[in-house]
Amino acid sequence: MGGPKFEDMPELRSDECHVWWAALTHCARWHTRLLDATESMRHHSYRTAADRDRFTVGVALTRLVLGAHLSVPPDGVPIDRTCARCGGPHGRPRLATGASIDFSVSHSGDVIGLAIARSLAGGGASRLVGLDVELINAATAKEAPVDVVLSATEHLSYRKLDASARPAAFFRYWVRKEALLKATGEGLLVPMTHLTMSAPDQPPRLAEWQGRPGYQALVSMHDLPARPGYAAALAVVGRDAAVICHDASELINDSGLLSA
Ligand SMILES: CC(C)(COP(=O)(O)OP(=O)(O)OC[C@H]1O[C@@H](n2cnc3c(N)ncnc32)[C@H](O)[C@@H]1OP(=O)(O)O)[C@@H](O)C(=O)NCCC(=O)NCCS
Repeated sequence: MGGPKFEDMPELRSDECHVWWAALTHCARWHTRLLDATESMRHHSYRTAADRDRFTVGVALTRLVLGAHLSVPPDGVPIDRTCARCGGPHGRPRLATGASIDFSVSHSGDVIGLAIARSLAGGGASRLVGLDVELINAATAKEAPVDVVLSATEHLSYRKLDASARPAAFFRYWVRKEALLKATGEGLLVPMTHLTMSAPDQPPRLAEWQGRPGYQALVSMHDLPARPGYAAALAVVGRDAAVICHDASELINDSGLLSA
């Protein structure tokens, strides 16, 4: 029994988090055949081809990787996207069967990423992951409302930076924060200014979460190597994991994985 097999799928050990990187150029027509009814509706709702393709590659990557780990066809991976707030189909995606793998998808520009980890880590402790990747856009950083993103402590370090270092620093803060808010599932409903991260040139760490004393003890942050011109970060809430990055090009081009 089980779905078609991707022969090179690496084992996901309980102490690991795997991050798979794909590109917008990987988008292929057969990927749309992997989408379920909710995902097809979302696919059709995007106005630009680039947004449609980013969404499609993210879903295909998720289904191909999870399908291989769960031994089910990629189009049979049960993904629940219900929003916890309003019941709409745009919430934090999770496995509907309660299988103990947590995952997080992110896309920006030409890059699409997926992080997966066993959600029950050693000793049965729970683990959530959040991934964020952003194209570093100097114009956006220049106009960015830093008051909406940076806490007072972060603002002090940021102001000391040379103007040329600010875009990369701004996006480093941004991806670290968004990765954590994706791990908890709250997203941008939590003001980013409530989080204080370590300075961008320091090892990533949540220093403080305003209103959640002690929460930083539950959180591990990882800066990820992404394509040049991009910033990426991973947050792990619960027991930390060793991060292993994989290139998804072979997997996402393997149309033989589509079930008959
Ligand atoms: C999660 C969020 C930060 C993502 O922002 P983004 O700029 O689209 O960034 P990314 O590309 O990194 O992430 C998008 C992916 O995050 C995932 N996602 C969606 N909602 C999420 C949430 N609440 N928590 C974690 N991940 C989420 C999805 O997989 C989504 O990809 P998809 O749309 O292709 O399926 C933003 O959408 C958000 O804040 N959502 C929550 C807001 C909310 O709950 N509003 C209530 C509506 S009723």
